[in-house]
Amino acid sequence: TNIKKVHRTGYHFQPPKHWINDPNGPMVYKGIYHLFYQYNPKGAVWGNIIWAHSVSRDLVNWKALEPAIYPSKHFDIGGCWSGSATILPGDRPVILYTGLDKDAIEMQNYAIPSDLTDPYLRHWTKPDDNPLIYPTEGINASAFRDPTTAWFSGGYWKTVIGSRHRRRGIAHLYRSKDFLHWVKAKHPLHSVPNTGNWECPDFFPVLKEGKNGLDTSSLGENVRHILKVSLDETRYEYYTIGTYDPKMDKYIPDNTSADGWDGLRLDYGNFYASKTFFDSNKNRRILWGWANESDPKENDTAKGWSGIQTIPRTMWLDSNGKQLMHWPIEEIEMLRGNKVELGKTTLKKGEHVEVKGITAAQADVEVVFSFSDLNVAEKFNPSWGAAHTICAQKGSNVPGGVGPFGIMTLATEDFYEYTPVFFRIFKVKNNMHKVVLCSDARPSSYAPGLYKPAFAGFVDVNVTNGKLSLRSLIDNSVVESFGAGGKTCITSRVYPQKAIYDNAHLFAFNNGMAVITVEKLTAWSMKNANRNVRGRI
Ligand code: FRU
Repeated sequence: TNIKKVHRTGYHFQPPKHWINDPNGPMVYKGIYHLFYQYNPKGAVWGNIIWAHSVSRDLVNWKALEPAIYPSKHFDIGGCWSGSATILPGDRPVILYTGLDKDAIEMQNYAIPSDLTDPYLRHWTKPDDNPLIYPTEGINASAFRDPTTAWFSGGYWKTVIGSRHRRRGIAHLYRSKDFLHWVKAKHPLHSVPNTGNWECPDFFPVLKEGKNGLDTSSLGENVRHILKVSLDETRYEYYTIGTYDPKMDKYIPDNTSADGWDGLRLDYGNFYASKTFFDSNKNRRILWGWANESDPKENDTAKGWSGIQTIPRTMWLDSNGKQLMHWPIEEIEMLRGNKVELGKTTLKKGEHVEVKGITAAQADVEVVFSFSDLNVAEKFNPSWGAAHTICAQKGSNVPGGVGPFGIMTLATEDFYEYTPVFFRIFKVKNNMHKVVLCSDARPSSYAPGLYKPAFAGFVDVNVTNGKLSLRSLIDNSVVESFGAGGKTCITSRVYPQKAIYDNAHLFAFNNGMAVITVEKLTAWSMKNANRNVRGRI
């Protein structure tokens, strides 16, 4: 097999070659979507970072443009790191990004389109009054980066910059009347001890009810705020839901989830440095995240590429107000090709059924399971700890009461390799249950040196109606799963050696005592997206 090609995705965003990391400055301008991203133009490892640039009309098919921002001035000669876009009144986009100087001091710069009549915004100018924000006394100059999309309130533009003081994570707040002169607020927007450096903060409003998104400056009675940070020390993200007080410029998280390492996650798998934007075209808030490779560096060099962006997701507040919900953007469905349906199918303990007739290495699958007997659920033991420890101990082959049941993606016919995505339901007390969603990379491949975690998250869902749904987007070396309509999401990178191309299969399975019914399963072959081709969009 061709190492350069075999694990490349068919419909995830990735350039033809070299290293990528964080999505940067996503926005929609005159109906065209822009995605910038951290890119090494010289190799498949991190380094020489610039802002590469692609545009799209549908968030699925992309056209590559020339790099937007690259080191050229004293304020960014050491690298052009992550940042955001803000659309100023009069439809004028501006990028805020972190530049490093020759001594690796991190500072915040701006760039503006050189020609606003070019809808692709191919060329960007970095004015001479940069940097806008320099790390003053008391700020850690090597942990001062990733400015957020600015919001406007009380006569000021405001942005947040990720940082730390020793191990206290900090979201520094800056204000400006004209977007050019920025003053540090006396108090950060928020900070939390013992969380380490906060990278790629994201701060945005969500509606209390409904799925519509809000412009980043929205405030009001029916609005809550989300603060998300990427934790450098653990390489995962967490977020809180809370209240933003625009007068005091303070963010107060609700106490419904932990404000720290145990907090809510946008994704319980391989997903980092994410960023949202408000899509004024379709009135929704969209989330982009980066999924790093989980294979050894040498393999990336041999492959000639590293890193993908996850499928953009629409994000809204759950009607219970306690977590965010995610769903792959509807546009991805345009890639659905051949469709197969499995009618009502019962699965007794140890049974599985194959979903035939699709390209299982590149597919979209939606399934609704039902279970008749919650009484046989095992008792939940709180001392088991985090969901991933439960998944690591109770893999897809370990029999249970209700579950494990789910799907086996990227599987060889003989289960030499497979990536199971499955639920387990535990009993807490009468009519109270704990649901775990697991995406276990351990059986995914026999190749040496891979990082193959048993990713998992709890699903805060009422199962007394006897049903649970699951959707997975399978794309050669990535499986993105959405439990219970998008309550819990897990992205995993896997590198099967045999379960590739036409040797990849898809199954539904049950290894628990309770009989499971596949109420409905629909799967589609997924076509390739056009990515990074030149020409028209
Ligand atoms: C997160 C990050 C950012 C930084 C960028 C550099 O992955 O470390 O904090 O701006 O990547 O490429």
